[in-house]
Amino acid sequence: MQNMKQKIHLAILGSGNGTNAQRICEYFSENECIDVCCIIYNKKDAYIAERAKNLGIDSQYFNKHDFYDSDVVLQYLQEKQTDYVILAGFLLLVPENILQAYPKRVINIHPALLPKYGGKGMYGHHVHQAVIDNHETESGITIHIVDQHYDQGTTLFQARCHVTPEDSADTLADKIHLLEQEYFPVIIEKTVQKNA
Ligand code: GAR
Repeated sequence: MQNMKQKIHLAILGSGNGTNAQRICEYFSENECIDVCCIIYNKKDAYIAERAKNLGIDSQYFNKHDFYDSDVVLQYLQEKQTDYVILAGFLLLVPENILQAYPKRVINIHPALLPKYGGKGMYGHHVHQAVIDNHETESGITIHIVDQHYDQGTTLFQARCHVTPEDSADTLADKIHLLEQEYFPVIIEKTVQKNA
């Protein structure tokens, strides 16, 4: 009998709209080596849950207590045979037990050029507004390995876009969104392949 090689399973963690989660699921939907095994979310009414349902991906809600005071999230990840944890708009700090179980295998996307505009409270619209308020002429995305601090850890990839005087936080968010959709799944794939 031929040796059947297991697929690499990605678990996605999100807190919000879920556009990145959806893009990742669609990108890997026909992939022979990598798939998305589940979507985990920590806000009950987050639209990411609806997207998971529409995509036919198993999804599960966990609250803050589940993340920080118990092993239930880690157990769920292990039940799903997760190999990599992908943060796609996930706004909590990743708990230590998950970081330990997945060393260098937790990957985040941040909507700015880290180390600028990172840290606690710097997410989504707040990031874009800060970039506009500081009259920056460029912004971009950073994809990085996650450690125990917000928005630190080894950078895997950055892509840049111009910020013009006409830009608002909303128009900048649109530019960043395009970069995220283009690059996040590709960089996940490259990282997974490099480690295989
Ligand atoms: C994305 O822009 C992502 O980069 C950002 O939240 C948004 C989530 O959108 N993440 C952070 O700010 C993390 N600090 P989505 O839910 O539609 O993918």
